[in-house]
Amino acid sequence: MKTYNIALLAGDGTGKEVTDEAVKVLKAIGEKHSIDFNFEPALIGGCAYDEYKTPLPDVTLDIAKKSDAVLLGAVGDWKYDTLPPEVRPERALLGIRKELNLFANLRPATVYPELTSLSPLKEDFVSGTDIMIIRELTGDVYFGTPKGIETKNGEKFGYNNMCYFESEIRRIAHVAFKVAMQRNKKLCSVDKANVLDVSRLWREIVIETSKEYPEVELSHMYVDNAAMQLIRNPKQFDVVLTGNIFGDILSDEASMLSGSLGLLPSASLSDTKLAMYEPIHGSAPDLKGQNIVNPIATILSAAMMLKYSFNMDTEHDEIVNAVRKALKDGFRTKDIAQDGMTILGTKEIGDIIKANILKY
Ligand code: IPM
Ligand code: MG
Repeated sequence: MKTYNIALLAGDGTGKEVTDEAVKVLKAIGEKHSIDFNFEPALIGGCAYDEYKTPLPDVTLDIAKKSDAVLLGAVGDWKYDTLPPEVRPERALLGIRKELNLFANLRPATVYPELTSLSPLKEDFVSGTDIMIIRELTGDVYFGTPKGIETKNGEKFGYNNMCYFESEIRRIAHVAFKVAMQRNKKLCSVDKANVLDVSRLWREIVIETSKEYPEVELSHMYVDNAAMQLIRNPKQFDVVLTGNIFGDILSDEASMLSGSLGLLPSASLSDTKLAMYEPIHGSAPDLKGQNIVNPIATILSAAMMLKYSFNMDTEHDEIVNAVRKALKDGFRTKDIAQDGMTILGTKEIGDIIKANILKY
């Protein structure tokens, strides 16, 4: 029996509650298919700061680097808000992305038929939406230098640098075209090429890369228009390719198509086989310990791990179907509950999903 070693970085707040359920579900898959998933826990974020005075200790990075895949909960808690920026929990997230070279962030925004009425948008507009946002994750204004706050002309001056090497654009473009080839072969690249030089280069390299994928229909959209089109007509999108900061913003916006941040998973891939999987939501420290948060985004992130890291398409589908069955049967956590439905706790919805996996 092959063993898959998974670095388990639960993080802060409700991170452990949601990763516990994903572990439960992976163990059910293991039991059903005789796969051995071995979990190696490590600290990241505020809890790591408490223990090691850094949010991303070397021991955590080592465990992550030696693993076959990383499962992350969430980082951050109000109690760390006063820490200096270099040791804040969010830094650990940026640090691990950079250290593991996780440049390709896949954020699917899928509207499940069971949940179309959850979206704040009209059902007709969102039903059937199935978008894959591909966000570049290790470059852009997030990591560009020079950056800082200093005094200039007698007043404070803050600055960051939005920048990309063509090699960084090319490698994320290849990921996006490959994903598009597996889907409906439509790729929309989002930039701000009417204003930003870095975006003009982005567009040039994306067009160049597209020559290798003649079957994919490529379009370009300015980010402001894309923000509007996502609400106006989300079904026009298949794969959306964009840089780090635009992708950060557009993926939060897209999550509202499905109605809850608690539903959306993500995968962050590198050019080696190492990858990290995490829900797109935060750590919700105010909800900690109450057994009320929605573990589905993390459970679906574990499903993405099976698909993208371990090539287990059947097992991936089993998790997705088990989640959908639970929703169809009217089992909900509080964030997505509607009239007449059974409200369950974090653990209980995890149990139902596990039972569905073992049963079907
Ligand atoms: C995300 C988050 C992070 C980001 C923060 C927490 C640093 O918003 O994963 O989208 O900006 O990338
Ligand atoms: Mg974000």
